[in-house]
Amino acid sequence: MKIVVTGGLGFIGSHVVVELQNEGFEVVIIDNLSNSSEDVLKGIATITGKVPVFEKIDLKDKPDVIDFFKRHHDVEGVIHFAASKAVGESVDKPLLYYENNLNTLVYILQQLQQKENSNFIFSSSCTVYGQADELPITESAPIQAAESPYGNTKQIGEEIIKDSCKVAPNLSAIALRYFNPIGAHESVNIGELPIGVPQNLVPFITQTGIGLREQLSVFGNDYPTKDGTCIRDYIHVVDLAKAHVSALKRLVEEKNSANYEVFNIGTGKGSSVLEVISAFEKISNQKLNYKIVDRREGDVVAAFADTTKANTVLGWKAKSSLEEALMSAWEWEKKIRA
Ligand code: WQD
Repeated sequence: MKIVVTGGLGFIGSHVVVELQNEGFEVVIIDNLSNSSEDVLKGIATITGKVPVFEKIDLKDKPDVIDFFKRHHDVEGVIHFAASKAVGESVDKPLLYYENNLNTLVYILQQLQQKENSNFIFSSSCTVYGQADELPITESAPIQAAESPYGNTKQIGEEIIKDSCKVAPNLSAIALRYFNPIGAHESVNIGELPIGVPQNLVPFITQTGIGLREQLSVFGNDYPTKDGTCIRDYIHVVDLAKAHVSALKRLVEEKNSANYEVFNIGTGKGSSVLEVISAFEKISNQKLNYKIVDRREGDVVAAFADTTKANTVLGWKAKSSLEEALMSAWEWEKKIRA
């Protein structure tokens, strides 16, 4: 069964490609290499023994999208990662984000709507909840006004898919709202490759641990939490990748109860920034150099998932602990800097 993974050479996409191949799916990767490298293909093939088909396509080019789906008319599903995802950048360049994250989604859905039957998995985000009033966060928590154009593209993206599924019973979709993906494949052949100064906590920690960064800045310790620092739900990227296979199988095997469904994908456990730092110090057996600085604009105080629906309906559950995920991130950092 042929599955297209857009953005399949990226951090999460590449881990999903590995899990799809492990499950026997034939994978075709679309990527424009704007935030990834073709070398990732080798890493995937080293793990699975199969080189996925790769086509360098920019999904903003509508004629190229039409041509791709004409040539691959036997595609049975699309897992869509290709998007820009830097929150700060989206504030400075909103139109780049609306064009790249939404036009591309429309072009793909237009092609899928013409097919007899198609399955679509959307990479969404817990950012759609903003600062949820109740924790842990369930899928019925209200969607709050986005804090950034990036977060807005995830909210609008979900609406576009929902409206498309309403008029096209032949189109079935699942949106997976990720919490905080971290770590790398245990084989250390693929992992996160942030370009420039990492925006996210864990890559900044591992780069500080390896000496690439002088010191980690902790963005505020005056939040109303157990130790004053923000709380997040850090999920191992391989657990997250396996959730995509579960979601795809749910659609392919027609086990879905509606043709648009949403699932929170997290561990269900919240960890503060200081807890992540001490967990890293424990697994790396070294002190981390950090200092407390001012809060970062737009950060929510706490966000962690209620995973009941994913566990019971999707039949998926995260298995790795924070320490295991951090260990995999640290092993990856040491390998790419060796
Ligand atoms: C985590 C915590 C920071 C860096 C982001 C995206 C979101 C989603 C998940 C895609 C926060 C603190 C961070 C640093 C710090 N991605 N921090 N020093 O902001 O929860 O969510 O990743 O869907 O869309 O926004 O993740 O890793 O940036 O921050 O203290 O150098 O670590 O304040 O509390 P975030 P993050």
